[in-house]
Amino acid sequence: MMSERWTPASWRSSPALHIPSDYPDAEALTRVEETLRVMPPLVFAGEARRLKSLLGDVAAGKAFLLQGGDCAESFKEFTADNIRDTFRLILQMAVVLTFAGGKPVVKVGRMAGQFAKPRSSAVETQDGTTLPSYRGDNINGMEFEEGSRTPDPERLLRAYNQSAATLNLLRAFANGGYADLNNIHKWTLGFVDGSPQGERYRALTDKISETLAFMQAIGVNPNTYPGMHQVEFYTSHEALLLGYEQALTRVDSTSGDWYDCSAHLLWIGERTRQLDHAHVEFMRGVKNPIGLKVGPTLEPDDLMPLIDVLNPDNEPGRLTLYGRFGADKIAARLPRLLAATRREGRAVVWATDPMHGNTLTASNGYKTRPFDRVLSEVKSFVEIARAEGVHPGGVHLEMTGQNVTECLGGARALTETDLADRYHTHCDPRLNAEQALELAFLVAEKLKEGRLEDLKAAV
Ligand code: PEP
Ligand code: CO
Repeated sequence: MMSERWTPASWRSSPALHIPSDYPDAEALTRVEETLRVMPPLVFAGEARRLKSLLGDVAAGKAFLLQGGDCAESFKEFTADNIRDTFRLILQMAVVLTFAGGKPVVKVGRMAGQFAKPRSSAVETQDGTTLPSYRGDNINGMEFEEGSRTPDPERLLRAYNQSAATLNLLRAFANGGYADLNNIHKWTLGFVDGSPQGERYRALTDKISETLAFMQAIGVNPNTYPGMHQVEFYTSHEALLLGYEQALTRVDSTSGDWYDCSAHLLWIGERTRQLDHAHVEFMRGVKNPIGLKVGPTLEPDDLMPLIDVLNPDNEPGRLTLYGRFGADKIAARLPRLLAATRREGRAVVWATDPMHGNTLTASNGYKTRPFDRVLSEVKSFVEIARAEGVHPGGVHLEMTGQNVTECLGGARALTETDLADRYHTHCDPRLNAEQALELAFLVAEKLKEGRLEDLKAAV
């Protein structure tokens, strides 16, 4: 199959998991895909190439990837404030990581397109009634009611429009002055302000402000160095709904290559990474930087053929591997995979997704994640990578700038009872801003340790 010619539609002759096939009107779906095919691209090939080159720096150990956002974006939670709050949380975390790690941080939102979800069960039963599972706002509705759970192709258009509006605001925030380094004090989210993480952040930004004043005095300011006035910010989502991805895949006129212009970076999920299936087939042909989730059942002998297909030219920055094992499994699973890519000289980014291997159901029925397990997986990831001589390249998080109560623990020690207070996620539990900032401080400390060790080794 792989030797055959790739086209944006070639995935259609391979088996495809987690793509809904129960649209009541298949022709209506085709019509929507045709409409999308003539809509403007959301991103440009040149931007995707730029991100690939930044990720190439991560692969070479010279930068760090910070990727995060909602598990699933929704139509209901689509507001300017929500977008701004996640954006500024990423900026805050990046400041923490840059300052301690001493390396540039590549900022990628799980935003502006992260709608579709693979579900463990195709149906859901409540009080004796069985309906199709909720699969993301671009497919069906969350409400447990037949009409809402029936896939509706019009939702794809709404998701496209929402992604365009989200991206528009993100571009404005990134380039229009909001992200100016001189604003670092203002990025603190109100409810984080008085917390231990807020204090820690303030102490750090005081130091940075002092440094900025010094730099200003010697002539380095946003006029002489425009990089201080804006940030580079990229978007990403799981490329699950291949019909949508295909419709937004376009030939780049400068290179003649195909790019999936629905986002800068797309990844293949843990449940759709079969070598001979549709998702791998589609993703091998687009030239974007891409990701692959790597879970606890993947053996080095399965990983290598996937890398051969997805990054045949061993291009640094093309492929990011996100380990998502669970705090209790990472030590048994990760070392052999790292050893294999290192031994074979594969120029991949290794990052950690400490969310998806650490999900459990609380005694009161809420799907949650204990924050200490999330932290533990991140800590293990950095330690194991360093021990294997591989750069711990980044983190991929489900998080929100909203003050939600979805993951247990953290500095405020959220309990199972607290989960009911503000549990708003449309799919998996997200870190709230305080928890995410705490995690950034932990990663920063680990990176700093590594930097000091490297310095010592160099003298
Ligand atoms: C996700 O990132 O939302 C997801 C479903 O992850 P995974 O594919 O790793 O389970
Ligand atoms: Co998720």
